[in-house]
Amino acid sequence: MSIHIVAPQGSIAETVLLPGDPLRAEHIATTCLTEVVRYNEIRGMWGFTGFWKGHRVSVQGTGMGMPSFSIYAHELIKDHGARRLVRIGTCGTMSERLKLRDVLIVQATDCDSGMNVSRFGSYQFAPTASFDLLRRAYEKAIELSIPAQVGNVFTSDQFYDLKGKEKMALAQSVGTMAIEMESCELYTLARLYGVEALTLLTVSDSLLSGEEVPPKERQTTFDSMVLLALSTLFA
Ligand code: HPA
Repeated sequence: MSIHIVAPQGSIAETVLLPGDPLRAEHIATTCLTEVVRYNEIRGMWGFTGFWKGHRVSVQGTGMGMPSFSIYAHELIKDHGARRLVRIGTCGTMSERLKLRDVLIVQATDCDSGMNVSRFGSYQFAPTASFDLLRRAYEKAIELSIPAQVGNVFTSDQFYDLKGKEKMALAQSVGTMAIEMESCELYTLARLYGVEALTLLTVSDSLLSGEEVPPKERQTTFDSMVLLALSTLFA
């Protein structure tokens, strides 16, 4: 049991997929897993454990943004024994190299959040993916013919940001490929607590052209990323 994940000891797998939306967690559990048990209902932030091709795996919603993500990831690692955490989400791209529907395999994160300033002060910590998961995701994407790129993401605290344009220009100038709101915290917690972590993101919108993946198609692109995540974890 922990404060936000009220689940009996042992009911969560060592390997956890982390979508932001609890309804996505339910979709993944009911369409990809067998012998599914819902272990958490607190705040509607559902979590499920089941099996994929005989491997035990959990799927936990995290909410949006680093503070919400942090609560769930922290409790999963510290209180429920999670050892491999893979965030699966969406991002907006500011790179010519990344197309709508591509998967971004996130190598490292830039960030404008105060969380790591509060933790590390003037020490500028570099949040990075676990190399082994990153390498396997890259190889699996090729094997499964899923269009994917490896690159860095900008983890932002604000979806509606008055300084959004300036920050996009900065991100572009250092080759950062997309924006989202959680991965910096995942990679930081993973290093602090010695567990493995990776983020996979489908490109849902382009900040260059304003194009978006139509809502009907989002699920299909998301599903192929979930397959990539599971194949990577249990390769
Ligand atoms: N900003 C932040 N997070 C996102 C975006 C965005 O434009 N698109 C998808 N996730």
